Amino acid sequence: MVKENKYIPALSFRWLTPLYDPLLKWGMREENFKRRLIERAGVQPGQHVLDLGCGTGTLTVMLKQSAPEAHITGVDGDEEVLAIAKTKAEQARVDIKWDYGLAYNLPYPDRSFDVVVSSLVIHHLTSADKVRAFQEVRRVLRPAGGFYILDFGRPFSLLTKIQGAVMKNLEEAADNFGGRILPMLKEAGFDSASEAEHMYTLFGPVWFYESIKAKKIEGE
Ligand SMILES: C[S@@+](CC[C@H](N)C(=O)[O-])C[C@H]1O[C@@H](n2cnc3c(N)ncnc32)[C@H](O)[C@@H]1O
Repeated sequence: MVKENKYIPALSFRWLTPLYDPLLKWGMREENFKRRLIERAGVQPGQHVLDLGCGTGTLTVMLKQSAPEAHITGVDGDEEVLAIAKTKAEQARVDIKWDYGLAYNLPYPDRSFDVVVSSLVIHHLTSADKVRAFQEVRRVLRPAGGFYILDFGRPFSLLTKIQGAVMKNLEEAADNFGGRILPMLKEAGFDSASEAEHMYTLFGPVWFYESIKAKKIEGE
C-alpha cells in the first residue's frame, strides 16, 4: 500500500522539536554540510531562492547572510518550527520571507524561483510524496533553475553501510539509503540529476543531489 501525506516533524515527534538545533549543531556538525550546500548552490544577487522544509531556519539564515542581495524564502509544513525560524532571523537581523506550506503542494505560482535548496527534508516524505514534491519543485523553478538537495543517501564505505542498515528503518529514509533519489528526480521530470559529492555524519552518509530544470521545455 502506498503511504501518502504522512507528516514527520523535525525530530519525528513534536515534543522533541526543542532539541533539534542542539542535536544538529553538536551531533551532526550541521554547519559543515550546510555551508557546502550554499557553496554548491552558488546563489547570485537578485535571485529568488526557496529553502524547502526550512525547519528552524539555520540554513535559510546562513543563505541570506552569504547572499544578502538575494530574495530568500523559507517554507515548512510545521508552524512551530517556523516560529523558531522567525525569531532566529530577527536575532540575526536578516530579512527572510517565511511561509507555511507542504512540499508536495507549494503555495507559489509556476516559475517563481531561480534556486531551490533543501536540507534533510526528503527522507521525511513517503516514496509517492518524494516524487510529488520533486514535481512541485520543478514547477516552481524557472527554466535553467537549480534544485540542490542535501540528504541521506547510499553508503560509500563499510562504516556507512553499517549506518545505512540501521538508519534505513528511520522515518521514510529507505529510498535514500537504497540510492533511489536520482531515479525519483528523473521520474519527476528533471532531465539532469546527479550525486555531486558525499559527506560522512554521525547519523549516516549524506549526499549533495543536484538537478537543473531544462532551459526550454516543449509545451510549457
Ligand atoms: C529534519 S528537519 C530539517 C530542517 C532544516 N531543513 C535543516 O536542515 O535543519 C525536516 C523538516 O522538514 C519539514 N517537513 C517534513 N515534511 C514536510 C512536508 N511534507 N512539507 C513541508 N515540510 C515538511 C519538517 O517540519 C522539518 O522542519
